[in-house]
Amino acid sequence: MASDGEREIAAIRDRVVAEIRAADSVTALDDVRVRVLGRSGELTLQLRAVGALPASERPAAGKALNQARRAIEALLDERRASLESAAISGALHDSSFDFTLPATPMRLGTLHPISRIQYQIEDIFTSMGFAVLDGPEVESDYYNFEALNIPKNHPARDMQDTFYLEDGNLLRTHTSPVQVRAMEVMRPPIRAIAPGRVFRYEVTDASHENTFYQVEGLMVDEDISVANLIAVMKTMLREVFERDVTVRLRPGYFPFVEPGFELDIRCFICEGKGCAVCKRSGWVELMPCGMVHPAVLRYGRIDPDRHSGFAFGLGLNRLVMMRYRIDDIRLFLSGDLRFLEQF
Ligand code: DAH
Repeated sequence: MASDGEREIAAIRDRVVAEIRAADSVTALDDVRVRVLGRSGELTLQLRAVGALPASERPAAGKALNQARRAIEALLDERRASLESAAISGALHDSSFDFTLPATPMRLGTLHPISRIQYQIEDIFTSMGFAVLDGPEVESDYYNFEALNIPKNHPARDMQDTFYLEDGNLLRTHTSPVQVRAMEVMRPPIRAIAPGRVFRYEVTDASHENTFYQVEGLMVDEDISVANLIAVMKTMLREVFERDVTVRLRPGYFPFVEPGFELDIRCFICEGKGCAVCKRSGWVELMPCGMVHPAVLRYGRIDPDRHSGFAFGLGLNRLVMMRYRIDDIRLFLSGDLRFLEQF
């Protein structure tokens, strides 16, 4: 036999269920929820009063109230979902909405040509077992110059015009500092590249920028020679230019390599016959490189009597300009969509 209390609860539940069914909007539904289940809602107050009942009645009353609350909550959720979906389909069936209208075309972004070639170079070197490293763009004098065998007052400091910061640091003028940072934390065999942005205090024109990109390369092991350097460079260039390339080395001076070279490639426009791109020489200067100077190995805590290495500093902008026949370096940072959308 149901007690008076249970009958009362059943009556409340039935009334609330009817109210929920009758609610014709989410707002009306929320009103019902607050009135019944809110802080001083009808059912909440009843639940709170259970504690005051005689001990023998408490379990049954508590159980009945909780069942009623759960049933009401479930019904509230269900009704809310159906009111919401009805609101959406109502909007969709509004006669002013034309489903057949084509959508506004989305403008897809593209990779910047520098990024494209950088990622390609990263893939090539990764497949040869090289790690891809990163280094800070704000560098110390030590890493940018000192540890690369360019002491203070060395004339080679004038080779690169530097942006100095007020705190004594500088914007790195090349990615070579990453060589030293790599040697500090890695032990031979070391195979690493470090792509990144570099800065020069420079007047801009079609072939000069104050901000550009390099890919530094470093390989250190026992018995590394110029032959290894040439082999790695040819592999990389074959992939980038999608054909075999002929290379040559000329002597070049950089304080952190000995011997130092300029690596040229046979002009891929005229095949070496001489044209405007190669200035009639048949060769195009591509990248400086060399055998890591023993002093630099020592700065990297590597014993030059046991280990040797090669390094290169690829000018990424220049490579991309050759790859896509771009004639003005300033286009890269111009943000000009007519330029960027071609890639
Ligand atoms: N860091 C040099 C520059 O930006 C380029 C360079 C030359 C890098 C020779 C090298 C290298 O790793 O071996 O002017």
